[in-house]
Amino acid sequence: MDDLRDKYITAIAGAADEAALEDLRVQAVGKKGEVSLKMRELGKMTPEERQVAGPALNALKDEINSALTAKKSALADAALDARLKDEWLDVTLPGRGRGQGTIHPISQVTEEVTAIFADMGFAVAEGPQVESDWYNFDALNIPGHHPARAEMDTFYMARAEGDNRPPHVLRTHTSPVQIRSMQEHGAPLRIICPGRVYRSDYDLTHTPMFHQIEGLALDRDISMANLKWVLEEFCRAFFGLDGIELRFRASHFPFTEPSAEVDIRCSWEGGTLKLGEGDDWLEILGSGMVHPKVLEAGGIDPAEWQGFAFGMGIDRIAMLKYGMPDLRAFFESDLRWLRHFGFSALDTPTLHAGLNR
Ligand code: PHE
Repeated sequence: MDDLRDKYITAIAGAADEAALEDLRVQAVGKKGEVSLKMRELGKMTPEERQVAGPALNALKDEINSALTAKKSALADAALDARLKDEWLDVTLPGRGRGQGTIHPISQVTEEVTAIFADMGFAVAEGPQVESDWYNFDALNIPGHHPARAEMDTFYMARAEGDNRPPHVLRTHTSPVQIRSMQEHGAPLRIICPGRVYRSDYDLTHTPMFHQIEGLALDRDISMANLKWVLEEFCRAFFGLDGIELRFRASHFPFTEPSAEVDIRCSWEGGTLKLGEGDDWLEILGSGMVHPKVLEAGGIDPAEWQGFAFGMGIDRIAMLKYGMPDLRAFFESDLRWLRHFGFSALDTPTLHAGLNR
């Protein structure tokens, strides 16, 4: 028994890892281990012999088991120590220096617009960029044969072979979020939705992906006058100009009735754009009173509720405000452009601190 003890206690002390330790456990106290076999021999002994050998074997078994447990936790501690040493990180090291990255003008302008509308009680809503054709078109009173579908240069998603359901689209505008918000929250409702939209188009002022901000306000007696006030108030705050002048030009959208496109007064004298003066007009958004069919698609009773909606190009108003002539540069990741037109991460737009630099 002493030999057994020496053999296993020494071996356990010298075990290199958990696997070796487990082998030793099986050899010694496993079902067919040496100590277990010895215990089985107890039955063949005389009662006197058994009285001595029994307790001694039990004690040996206990001793080996506790040696195993102790070694196991020692091995675990050592492994943890090694890891801690290995993965040590000096969090007091200096950072990488300031002013390396900048906030993209799109992000900045989105924050600016959101701050202004939040101040007027609009909540921010979101919707998916891959949209069903129902949300992107039908629910907005654009049926399958409607020319607006073709005009929008839609990107269609591929369906699996043999799947004849209408394909999903990359949303061509943020207007589907009108429907989703109505379905989710009902009326009254006041939301804006900034986000990415997609159309197959590419030139100085068009990129296949661009950004819009949708606005929707529903209540019992909202009128075109409220729309006009909200948009003028927005433009004054956004461009930081009291003398801003807007022109509401009759237009057509399937999802609003009546509809108006909104232009802002500007001048191009000397080749530079000036807002709020001059004899030119620049279109900045589409708007109108929400069509009753659109309210119905959103589950809202048009006999009880009405409201206005508008959709504005974020990239476009960013170009106007910060004098960036080529939209394509927005998405080329040219570091010189990003450093020149980017914003400091600490420059968070708020109304009280001032939106306009
Ligand atoms: N969805 C329209 C567009 O992308 C803009 C719009 C939104 C017009 C809401 C009217 C009302 O051109």
